Amino acid sequence: MGEAGLEARSAAGGALGTRASSSEAIDARASTGGALEERAAEVLGGIEARGTLRRMRVLAGAQGPRMVVEGREVLLFAGSNYLDLAHHPEVAEAAARAARDFGCAAGGSRLINGNLNLHERLEEELAEFVGTESALVFATGYMANVGAIPALVGRGDVVVSDALNHASIIDGCRLSQADVRVVPHGDVDAMDAALGECTATHRRVLLAVDGVYSMDGDVAPVAACAELAARHGAMLLLDDAHGTGTLGPSGRGAAELCGVEDGIDVRMGTLGKSLGSFGAFVAGSARLRELLVNAARSFIFSCALAPPQVEAARAALRLVVREPWRRERLQANAARLRARLAAAGVSTAPSTTHIVPVVIGENRRTMAVCEALLERGFYAQGIRHPSVPEGTARLRITPMATHRDDEIDALADAIVAELA
Ligand SMILES: Cc1ncc(COP(=O)(O)O)c(C=O)c1O
Repeated sequence: MGEAGLEARSAAGGALGTRASSSEAIDARASTGGALEERAAEVLGGIEARGTLRRMRVLAGAQGPRMVVEGREVLLFAGSNYLDLAHHPEVAEAAARAARDFGCAAGGSRLINGNLNLHERLEEELAEFVGTESALVFATGYMANVGAIPALVGRGDVVVSDALNHASIIDGCRLSQADVRVVPHGDVDAMDAALGECTATHRRVLLAVDGVYSMDGDVAPVAACAELAARHGAMLLLDDAHGTGTLGPSGRGAAELCGVEDGIDVRMGTLGKSLGSFGAFVAGSARLRELLVNAARSFIFSCALAPPQVEAARAALRLVVREPWRRERLQANAARLRARLAAAGVSTAPSTTHIVPVVIGENRRTMAVCEALLERGFYAQGIRHPSVPEGTARLRITPMATHRDDEIDALADAIVAELA
């Protein structure tokens, strides 16, 4: 910056300084700072005391089976790029082409100027993929749930919600102002009883479950949920953030794996996990789409997905269809890891999928094991409350389709050694 620039800045600072020198302004600023500091001390102090203060690790390079984590090259067993599509040449090229041809932003919300033919095409392809009449894309899975749930239910209605549902379902329920009836995780009898009671006391009932539980790796009893919802006249929402692309013979997710193709009113899937891009979708009837376009506030009041994200997701979807070996290999890797750990006496229950938890229990011990694994060249993230219930801190291990057998075995051996 030249001297003239410096002078201009100091003149502006001087002018501000003059205005701020009044005692009222200083008092106001001090009280704001004081309140912030007080709040931060209260919140962060509590988190620190529980041993759950977070810090973000810095990773470098493209998401893949190997990455540089805080300066050290390690095997990556964390994250949700399950099929290793985030940096696939076809996906990257589709995004780059879209950036060149259509730019890097949709430029507004879908209902104003942002509804591009690209979005509509992606939605048609997603609907065809999951076998529904229509689909609507959202900026993230979190936004999809906090938008869809309040569009489906409101005051006087009730959501019957699995105890381990994702935070975005919990927050969607809160925003909806509907009553919430939490049922024990995966307990079909409890769901049945709750649905029976709630249909008598409430106008509308929504049963909400995750397809694959993101911290446990077990699959919801989707067939039973569909039967229950039909019998009780309830709507069923299936959040298949982690099952989309990874489960079922065609990759259509937890529903396909469980042999259920009908009876799911609302299917949520993400584009930012196995589909290697960013965003999410809600699929169902054309009427559902119309409802969401008109009533899902996180859709209405938010910018549309950018063209590179849309085109990356489309390219990834084509690969999901064309290359079933990716999900087969992913599940084989996960099964190998679970078996190798089980043989050494390390439980990964209740996982049956590519999300493999090793529950350690205590927060600090969990993070110490995570650090020790990093030292050995493996990154499997430690997960603590509130992402999982208190006392169940764990390693959340997520193999990818492109890890080799010897890499899976080396990770298992390192975990066994650290837990010994
Ligand atoms: C079950 C479930 N639903 C929703 C989400 C939110 O998806 P997104 O990361 O696209 O916001 C996640 C994120 O991990 C999840 O695990």
